[in-house]
Amino acid sequence: MQEQKPGFSQLNRQGLANFDSQLLKSIRSGKQPLSKDTLSAVLKLFVEMIKAIEDIHKKNQILAFVSPDIFMAKPAVDHNDMTTMQMPKKITISRKEFLDLDRFAYISPEQTGRISRTVDYRSNYYSLGVTMYELITGQKPFTADSMLELTHCHIARKPVAPDYLNPAIPRAVSKIILKLMEKEPERRYQSATGIISDLKRAIEAISASGRAEEFALGRDDWSNKFGLPQKLYGREKERAIIRQLAEQASVRVSQILLVGGAAGVGKTAMIKELFRPAAERNVYFASGKAEPLQVNTPYYVFTQMTRELVRILLQESDLMLEEWKKRLLKALNNNGQLIVDLVPELRLIIGDQDAVEELEPTENRNRFLTTFGNFIKTFAKKEQPLAVFLDDFQWCDQSSVELIKYLLTLDDMNSLMVIIGYREHEIQQNHPLYRCLEELKKSDQAATIIVKPLDQGNVARIISDTVHCHPDQADVLARVIHKKTQGNPFFVRNLLLHLHTSQYIYYNEDNHQWEWDEDEIEKCAISDNIVDFMIGQILKLPPKTQDLLKAGALIGAAFDVKLLMAVLNLDEQAILNQLGEAIDREIIIPENNYYEFYLGEAGQTFRFAHDRIQQACEALIPPESKKQLHLKIGNKIWQSLPPEQVADQAIQIVCHLNEGLDLINDTQERLMVLRLNLWAAQKAKTATSFSLARQYIETAISLLPDNPWEADYPLTFELIKTYAECAYLNKEYPLPKLRLRC
Ligand SMILES: Nc1ncnc2c1ncn2[C@@H]1O[C@H](COP(=O)(O)OP(=O)(O)O)[C@@H](O)[C@H]1O
Ligand SMILES: [Mg+2]
Repeated sequence: MQEQKPGFSQLNRQGLANFDSQLLKSIRSGKQPLSKDTLSAVLKLFVEMIKAIEDIHKKNQILAFVSPDIFMAKPAVDHNDMTTMQMPKKITISRKEFLDLDRFAYISPEQTGRISRTVDYRSNYYSLGVTMYELITGQKPFTADSMLELTHCHIARKPVAPDYLNPAIPRAVSKIILKLMEKEPERRYQSATGIISDLKRAIEAISASGRAEEFALGRDDWSNKFGLPQKLYGREKERAIIRQLAEQASVRVSQILLVGGAAGVGKTAMIKELFRPAAERNVYFASGKAEPLQVNTPYYVFTQMTRELVRILLQESDLMLEEWKKRLLKALNNNGQLIVDLVPELRLIIGDQDAVEELEPTENRNRFLTTFGNFIKTFAKKEQPLAVFLDDFQWCDQSSVELIKYLLTLDDMNSLMVIIGYREHEIQQNHPLYRCLEELKKSDQAATIIVKPLDQGNVARIISDTVHCHPDQADVLARVIHKKTQGNPFFVRNLLLHLHTSQYIYYNEDNHQWEWDEDEIEKCAISDNIVDFMIGQILKLPPKTQDLLKAGALIGAAFDVKLLMAVLNLDEQAILNQLGEAIDREIIIPENNYYEFYLGEAGQTFRFAHDRIQQACEALIPPESKKQLHLKIGNKIWQSLPPEQVADQAIQIVCHLNEGLDLINDTQERLMVLRLNLWAAQKAKTATSFSLARQYIETAISLLPDNPWEADYPLTFELIKTYAECAYLNKEYPLPKLRLRC
């Protein structure tokens, strides 16, 4: 083993040249038997690897990718491998870097994008665990033919213990590697000090006796990083119910699960977490989320869900993809274009499709429903059921509601489980979906779970995992926090973050422990309204960051940096820098943009950590600026599209422009927005959402100039005709009266 030279662990584009790459190479090729000396040398090498990575982490960066190659003197790797992430701390890493199977073998469960976890420094520990595993055993922990299978392995399969594969590997070393490779970041090592200390203990034991017996790991693994855990606490009863339902779903006709509860109580987290193991049980699980701004976009939730399903499929092996293509083409029966219209990415699996013949509106609707039903049936099979999670039903668009009902009436639909998440307090008698929800609840296929807040014990567990102490020690703090938050996990997390940034919870460097000021915390005046509380948090951010968040909130639950650049006239780096703090405070989460990659480059997308946060950001915008901002967003989306796509995307544009109609005075501009609304109406009509089509056409009509018949007879005629048609299709007879400014 070479001596460490100054600046040695500086990771550069040549790799970690000063590593003993001869040793690395020979252990990689499996030529080196694991003698006592080799073993010590290898473990020392591991220590150096950790140190190198720690140097990066100290700069608040993480490595995009870790594998044995990056430690080689002349790495056979491309530059991406050596890229550290530019952003501070938590950042998800674009899928494109992992597209090949070889590289996929090293990524952490959270980097697969299949679980709702953010990526942080501990992701590098996992990959380092895989690297060590490979170096010491001569084989990778997981191998598979497809990324999907590898994803399952990373998420759910336990690796075979290294000492089982090679008894020459001491048990303690084997355990250290397995701890690095724990599925949950909270169960991995939390610090480089912790890993190095354990490795050194093993090295000492080996040089003393040639063996390293098992010892309690993590003795020195304290962390001064305030890490809110992302795992699920409690929910044991719900887990049991869901398991039972999932089992029934594979034998019965379709099953429906309604998951209600307050905002932030943990509905989304629970369903996503409890269905995570589904990936292993060969269940396809895909989710789509409704959004307030998209209530007028036909099939919005189903589009989101299908998109995820397609992404999952795209990870299958080429052979399987061919098989899927055949199955889908057969099921879609020449109507594939209908689903491609909804989710263009599907073309990557089934290829370009022939245009479909235009039918009468009701026939159109029937054909769409049948085709979508057949599409779903292809996935929902006894041997591999399909679970679709349609979240935030309170904002669900009407056509998706009809589609849910349709799917549930199909007698020959087996092995489908529809899970609907909804805010219990928001769907009251005056809500348009109230009756529908009540009907769904009454159906004998349905089960309902109302998610309740966490009890004090679980709040204590969250605290103890955040500040790395025993739950009993966190008892008093847990009582105060539970009282202030009523056990709402969203509130608990944000309150803890707030207490940490306000220094009421702090790390004591002297005794390596987290401490807190109970009296101050007890005194903290905290609004019991979560939105108000979040507004307070957001107001503490730098004003420029706030501006970005406000604009982002108007774009939607997720926003693309490119659009933000255009709207605010800023460059990408400025935006990323200013968003840094919002990421640290868990206000927004960077999103994997894996599927965009297939369709061309797209920028980074960020998602608000919760609707309540988006709502709080939006609430900070004065009403007049809100209208202006909406106009700007709508216009920028419009300008970013090639002219031939504008009609197709009209709904996405008018959902913004229509918010600021009264600020548009220019006649030409009003006419353009009128056209966009007409296109939106036509699009909605094709999607058989007649009531939406009627709404758009009404807006279009309101934009007609005075004396419209004289100003533009053909256009006025077309509008009136479409209006009558939509009202008729919407079963409004006699036709409602329409007043034009003649
Ligand atoms: N059982 C739980 N244990 C710990 N954290 C939780 C739990 N349920 C939810 N959370 C966290 O609380 C926040 C809000 O949860 P979410 O599922 O988005 O709420 P909802 O969908 O009900 O509005 C998320 O950050 C989530 O990770
Ligand atoms: Mg939710």
